[in-house]
Amino acid sequence: MKKMTLILSLALAATATGCSNVEHSRDVANPAVSGKVLAQQVCSMCHGVTGNSVNPTFPKLAGQQKDYLTDQLKFFRKHNRSDPAGSEYMWGISRHLTNDQIAQLADYYAAQTRIPDPSVNPSLEELGKQIFTHGVNDGARTVPACETCHGTDAHGRGSFPFIAGQHEDYILKQLNIFKETEERDEKLGQMMKNETHDLSSEEMKAAAAYIATMP
Ligand code: HEC
Ligand code: HEC
Repeated sequence: MKKMTLILSLALAATATGCSNVEHSRDVANPAVSGKVLAQQVCSMCHGVTGNSVNPTFPKLAGQQKDYLTDQLKFFRKHNRSDPAGSEYMWGISRHLTNDQIAQLADYYAAQTRIPDPSVNPSLEELGKQIFTHGVNDGARTVPACETCHGTDAHGRGSFPFIAGQHEDYILKQLNIFKETEERDEKLGQMMKNETHDLSSEEMKAAAAYIATMP
């Protein structure tokens, strides 16, 4: 009798979480659900169906580099990326993702097309372009150009992220996180810690304004 109750409640739990249909499942803890289904049923709520989210709290994932997507999902999964928005929104969701699901999610977003938005600080775009293409060399400071690592089109490569057309607010927020905290990956994040160390708030704002409008 006890056993029967157990089987019944397990069956009910499975129906409630939608495990019975892996094509429409929102169950982020079921390894049988494909990355594509998760992207469409779960991730799209925040990151948008096309990977171009509307709200700048949620980064655009469309066109992002596969390796970078894989890195970040694994960083969230092992709590190695720990800024407040990252831990609040992404730790729970990534917790049970398998490496296969992560690879499928990365393929899915890498194949989408990024759509840029106009800058909210257009007067800063010129300074931003200067920093992106030439960095800062004013005698006192030597800051490498962003394009050295992110590419002249800012589309990134491998673990270097695609930053063109990303939300301006999100770019600026991440620059501050790299500069002020240890909340992103120690090894990859170190490159951005060095990069932002000598940049002023105004210069970071300008870089974000320019990069956000890049196609
Ligand atoms: C409830 C909202 C929400 C859902 C659902 C969600 N995310 Fe996120 N995601 C966020 C937020 C917020 C951030 C930004 C965290 C930060 O600022 O560090 C983020 C960041 C990311 C990043 C890092 C992007 C970058 O440019 O560094 C990736 C990759 C990501 N999410 C993938 C996913 C995937 C895959 C799913 C579905 C399995 C998903 N997210 C579901 C809110 C969400
Ligand atoms: C020496 C190489 C290098 C240079 C130069 C560099 N970056 Fe990066 N950047 C990286 C790497 C590597 C990462 C990924 C870090 C991680 O995974 O934690 C990154 C991440 C970022 C991110 C986070 C993207 C996201 O989706 O969360 C932003 C924004 C960014 N860089 C902007 C810039 C800007 C702006 C400049 C120029 C002022 C710049 N970078 C110069 C290597 C570099």
